[in-house]
Amino acid sequence: MLQVGNVQLPSNAFLAPVAGYFDLAYRLVVRSVPGYKGHAAVGLTCTDLLCPQALLSENEKSLWLAATSPDDKPVCMQLYGANAEIMAEAAQWSEAHGATMIDINMGCPVDKVTKRNGGSKLLCDPCNTIKMAEAIVKSVNIPVTAKIRLGWDDSSLIHTTLPTQLADVGIAMITVHGRTTEQRFKPSVRIPLIAETVAALKSNHSIPVIGNGDIKIPQDAKRMIDETGCDGIMVARGAMGQPWLFRDIVYHLETGKLPRPYPRIERMKCVIRHFENMLTMRDERIATNTIRVRMSRYSPHLQPWPNLKRDIQYVKTASEMRDFLNAGLERISQEDGITDPSFELAT
Ligand SMILES: Cc1cc2nc3c(=O)[nH]c(=O)nc-3n(C[C@H](O)[C@H](O)[C@H](O)COP(=O)(O)O)c2cc1C
Repeated sequence: MLQVGNVQLPSNAFLAPVAGYFDLAYRLVVRSVPGYKGHAAVGLTCTDLLCPQALLSENEKSLWLAATSPDDKPVCMQLYGANAEIMAEAAQWSEAHGATMIDINMGCPVDKVTKRNGGSKLLCDPCNTIKMAEAIVKSVNIPVTAKIRLGWDDSSLIHTTLPTQLADVGIAMITVHGRTTEQRFKPSVRIPLIAETVAALKSNHSIPVIGNGDIKIPQDAKRMIDETGCDGIMVARGAMGQPWLFRDIVYHLETGKLPRPYPRIERMKCVIRHFENMLTMRDERIATNTIRVRMSRYSPHLQPWPNLKRDIQYVKTASEMRDFLNAGLERISQEDGITDPSFELAT
């Protein structure tokens, strides 16, 4: 359990916002895997970063990116931009359309975003950023959070100053991705600097701090918490193709031990659930293409399955995909000695 403003989250392991990957269809798969003693494994998920203007004009793509459902809660909608008025209006839109919380993106290094002064460019102008954060906080009745990096580069670190200033104006939680913008995603996460953010914030605020970066296995999550004192962790790339990772993380955080590996048949059911979710939310072509592409992430976790990545390239239609996945489920149930997979694709 983790309290953020007036919201109680069921666990302190969060799925990160990852544009183009962690859409509603995948988030529901992540949520479908139960955690320790049947509790929710994932405490919070997040939409892709959303453009406030596009959201307010309700164009089709934005509506899909912001899509959520009653089963997809608690969920954060993440906004990017630098205009306080438009961001506040988009926050109100998000609140009215199912957001449990709003997150302000202060970490995106992509030119398209930073050229408009959004994303991690906000770290370079703390005065404006704080004013904007305050305007957003005042515009809604749900918690507003911020996801930051350590700074733009090593000569302009803000990881011990900006978080406390944001907390002063009512930001309810800070997530720190332990790299600078200049570092993008490559060099190892800088755990000691995340610890400095935690120490700075905890000296006069009680809002939670979430550590993010390079968490790929449960022990990484424990190390992040042990070495920084942060209240929770957020996983991005490590959760691609293994939606059951949160089950393993919360088990490890609770018990200090590692759980038995999630059975291969259950992993396969996750893939099928992902495809089913896509079919109900998008058209057949998009659903089929998405699963074909995502299989490269799932594949290492479904082995042994010779030529899986090669064979799925020949799958072109939804009905072929359905047959392919059903055959895979059958094959795994036989190989792993499970007589009743008790799970079939809708036809
Ligand atoms: C493909 C990709 C897309 C991302 N999209 C977003 C995004 O929309 N919003 C955001 O705040 N961070 C985004 N991130 C950053 C991640 O949320 C996370 O901070 C970063 O990848 C470090 O965590 P990791 O080491 O667990 O991957 C993205 C990262 C990747 C690799």
